Amino acid sequence: MQTATTSPARAAASGQLEYQSGFGNEFVTEALPGALPVGRNSPQQCPYGLYAEQLSGTAFTAPRSDNRRSWLYRIRPAAQHRPFARIDNRRLTSRFDEAHATPNQLRWNPLPIPDQAAEPLDFIDGLFTMAGNGDPHAQCGCGIHLYVANRSMTDRYFYDADGELLIVPQQGRLRLATELGLLDVEPHEIAVIPRGIRFRVELPEGGARGYVCENFGAPFRLPDLGPIGSNGLANPRDFLAPVAWYEDRDGACELVARFMGNLWSAQMDHSPLDVVAWHGSHVPYKYDLRRFNAIGSISFDHPDPSIFLVLQSLSDTPGVDTIDFVIFPPRVLAMQDTFRPPWFHRNIASEFMGLISGVYDAKAEGFAPGGASLHNCMSGHGPDAGTFEKASAADTTRPQYITGSLAFMFETRCVIRPTRLALESSELQADYFECWQGLRKHFDPTRR
Ligand SMILES: [Fe+2]
Repeated sequence: MQTATTSPARAAASGQLEYQSGFGNEFVTEALPGALPVGRNSPQQCPYGLYAEQLSGTAFTAPRSDNRRSWLYRIRPAAQHRPFARIDNRRLTSRFDEAHATPNQLRWNPLPIPDQAAEPLDFIDGLFTMAGNGDPHAQCGCGIHLYVANRSMTDRYFYDADGELLIVPQQGRLRLATELGLLDVEPHEIAVIPRGIRFRVELPEGGARGYVCENFGAPFRLPDLGPIGSNGLANPRDFLAPVAWYEDRDGACELVARFMGNLWSAQMDHSPLDVVAWHGSHVPYKYDLRRFNAIGSISFDHPDPSIFLVLQSLSDTPGVDTIDFVIFPPRVLAMQDTFRPPWFHRNIASEFMGLISGVYDAKAEGFAPGGASLHNCMSGHGPDAGTFEKASAADTTRPQYITGSLAFMFETRCVIRPTRLALESSELQADYFECWQGLRKHFDPTRR
């Protein structure tokens, strides 16, 4: 592609990108002075000869508090591309009925990042669907993917019409060049790309690996806080949206669409990242999970893991989320006379877990950063034998500090169905069930 001009990515002296703070706000930003029309969304003629275009992420008539839409002022409208044609989906799918859903506990080792010379993979090529539920047609459920990538997307752009993308990097930084601006994301941060937003993924450090939740349902939102009050968990000001940035680039490029579970490709003669100004609430954003204000018990027992809820996708049933994004961050455990690791449990919800760094406090070994586990509806799980023995004998008069560990969970209302690819993967740990087999029988009816 020939390069023409790129708007300055407004940056502080430190080289950090500039962001706008808040969640669900009506953001307002322009890369050229006066590019944003004032007082009307669609004037007869836009400044600088730009085209006006609305991008709606919710129904027009959604309640104001849930309504997401943005107005884009761009060099050419999004409609200008050649026809789409199907391309190979590689390891990406939204078919979750090709293998039997299993009540077994499942765990996988991390996917290796291949050498670029042997197998060049950009972010799209490197997506691997592990599991999911629902389907994009019904606008309900999610796809759960891993990604491994070793090269930047160049002259190649992507959008997902099926769902919003919650990206959880585990290794390697990502630069997300989106229609609405630039986001730099590193492990311990997350990014959310709303449905339909076009973007390119660059890898400033080479190899990258992480997790993606493709949310087919209602956009992620911050949970209400109830008795917690007006502060705590993920605070709105820590969510960062980009400022307007554009590239005015002519030349051949490819636009890849995810549509009804398949990948489609269209040729364009210019970059789709040509939005010079925008305002609205349908925006990509990032959040640093290290800013999560963890709240827990200071007496005994510990709350349900919903206390660690970062983002939720609501269902039609009050109190029952389609997807919860939950993290287990560094924190202090102060509960006395309490078994402090996550207890043994069975839930109606289904749980896909990943580990970003460190050692998860319910497992002594086997759950590696970049790996994953799946505990489905009513499948018993909890601490392994080593963790149980250790925690049962721990001194709970003193606080315990969990440091350097960050695990997360995509928890869903519906059963999470592993793909055939995931079940046949060499990363699947056939011996995972063994971690509970060493739990000894302690029962003695003569000893109270
Ligand atoms: Fe669990």
